[in-house]
Amino acid sequence: AQVHTIGHPLIQHKLTLMRRAETSTAKFRALLREISMLLAYEVTRDLPLKTEIIQTPLTHMEAPILAPEKKMVIISIMRAGQGILDGILELIPSARVGHIGLYRDPRSHVVVEYYFKVPHDITERDVLLVDPMIATGNTAVAAVNRLKQIQPRSIRFVCLLAASEGIEQLHAEHPDVPLYTAAIDDKLDEHGYILPGMGDAGDRLFG
Ligand code: PRP
Repeated sequence: AQVHTIGHPLIQHKLTLMRRAETSTAKFRALLREISMLLAYEVTRDLPLKTEIIQTPLTHMEAPILAPEKKMVIISIMRAGQGILDGILELIPSARVGHIGLYRDPRSHVVVEYYFKVPHDITERDVLLVDPMIATGNTAVAAVNRLKQIQPRSIRFVCLLAASEGIEQLHAEHPDVPLYTAAIDDKLDEHGYILPGMGDAGDRLFG
């Protein structure tokens, strides 16, 4: 897959604040919302425009407007994906929303699905699949496997922090899914946590 590392200084600065252990839940939440808006700005760079004749207070003109056939759905991997979803929706308020609930069995590391709900017209939509972290990549691969069963038009993955190992796994299983991330960390500890990382995003957001 293509990996886009988004090096915008505001994103990098906010990510550093999120990594700090002393950052409170309230601050972490606010930062994730802000950073997600900035990620959404980058991820939507290639959205097609059409033109429309509009009336300004003085005259009329041909003005650019988003092409209606580009229907987007943002699918959050619960729980932590909710933080990114909230931020992106501020920029793209008309996007449809789906949820995938997945957890990692702590012993077997097998990914188990506990919730799945997406819009009915998914085959006509382009998916932004969102989760702040890709560690081993098991969750990301399971989510893409599940989504591909229902055949959306396209899938892109948006996260904040990805471990190289997880990127390799996602790429090996789904070379057609581009990944957008703010940073790549190179290690996982023995429990599968990203190092240096930012801890468990779900726990830092929700407790
Ligand atoms: C975290 C994270 C990803 C997953 C990544 O969620 O938000 O979904 O782990 O790990 P992986 O790449 O090794 O699969 P977690 O399972 O802690 O669930 P939560 O969001 O409900 O806290």
